[in-house]
Amino acid sequence: MAPTPHLFQPLTLRGITTRNRVVISPMCQYSAHEGHMDDWHLVHLGRFATGGAGIVFTEATAVQKSGRITHGCPGLWNDSQIAGHARVAQFALRNGAIPAIQLAHAGRKSGMQRPWFGNGPLNEDDTARGDMPWAPVGPSAIRVAEGWPMPHALTREDIAMLIADFVSAAERALAAGYKIAEVHGAHGYLIHSFLSPLSNKRTDEYGGDLAGRMRLALEVTHAVRAVWPDDLPLFFRTSAVDGTPEGWSLDDTVVLASALKRIGVDVMDCSSSGIAGSATTGAPSKRQPSFQVPYAERVRKEAQMTTMAVGLITHAQQAEDILAESRADLIAIGREALVNPMWALHAARDLGHDTTFETWPEQSGWWLASRQKTSDFYTPD
Ligand SMILES: Cc1cc2nc3c(=O)[nH]c(=O)nc-3n(C[C@H](O)[C@H](O)[C@H](O)COP(=O)(O)O)c2cc1C
Repeated sequence: MAPTPHLFQPLTLRGITTRNRVVISPMCQYSAHEGHMDDWHLVHLGRFATGGAGIVFTEATAVQKSGRITHGCPGLWNDSQIAGHARVAQFALRNGAIPAIQLAHAGRKSGMQRPWFGNGPLNEDDTARGDMPWAPVGPSAIRVAEGWPMPHALTREDIAMLIADFVSAAERALAAGYKIAEVHGAHGYLIHSFLSPLSNKRTDEYGGDLAGRMRLALEVTHAVRAVWPDDLPLFFRTSAVDGTPEGWSLDDTVVLASALKRIGVDVMDCSSSGIAGSATTGAPSKRQPSFQVPYAERVRKEAQMTTMAVGLITHAQQAEDILAESRADLIAIGREALVNPMWALHAARDLGHDTTFETWPEQSGWWLASRQKTSDFYTPD
């Protein structure tokens, strides 16, 4: 029998075991109502679970109402929001995927337009639609870019409240049935803006040197870890580099990863950029396939930590090679899962792991296997 491809080997993290290494990356839908998810989210995320992914991430979920990126972002700042998440988590579990949630505060980038309305700060067109602007917060009174609102610099009391709200949101996520929580420390949102010397000019213990700028990330994560059960894994998403010599660097990321590992983070999810604009769409230059894999690789090697690679990973063999070369432990798929929500099942076929539809949901797999056996319509590779 052919050996199981790396992409389809299970991974045990604390008390959970994933069916494979395919993770659906968190992807904002901008479609929640006052922070509540609805049928859209169930169908959107549910198709990734029935599509064979090992882990399915719910998008950035705000721990405070004012920490939403847009008016359409979901939250867990209120108990009434748990039910929408619970439907997603239970559906994923029933279909063999591990449900995961990304807990977030958008910081300086809160109060943005939904992308299709402009992807910038809210303006009078949004106000006319009923999407009123609100005041963003950050480490220092430094705008994301010209034309963006000036953030209010968080006080120590604000920070204490923020940490408490991360904890409450994690407790609600647990109640909803999620098995993995991820602290969003990337893409220019609040935690990343504290890490980066470009946006953090504080002179108190939450700024200054690397240890000062890492303090908020570590305090939030430590507090979440304290309520997230010992048998469930905790991830941290980082922007491994800011992309400018004065900004956050890969060396800094290795230091951060080691510190996070010591306080109980299990997986470092290695993304990049976003401190001065959109991480996904505001790329200053053309991006190459696997362009962020070197970040996951270095963190894995130097912090000796389990890592997740993300960013322009679109093909099964590409994902398989990353794992086979020990450059990462998990592969996150974002936009390609929007092209093909059944990416994981197709990858299993492409790698020769399942050419007979055995791992497909029985509702479709039985019929497809039978068609394959009884007709010339379909010939396996
Ligand atoms: C529609 C959309 C929404 C996204 N929302 C989030 C998010 O909520 N949190 C996050 O960390 N990254 C978010 N991202 C970034 C993705 O998780 C991923 O890192 C990025 O798309 C690169 O991977 P890809 O090339 O496979 O798409 C989003 C990307 C897209 C396309």
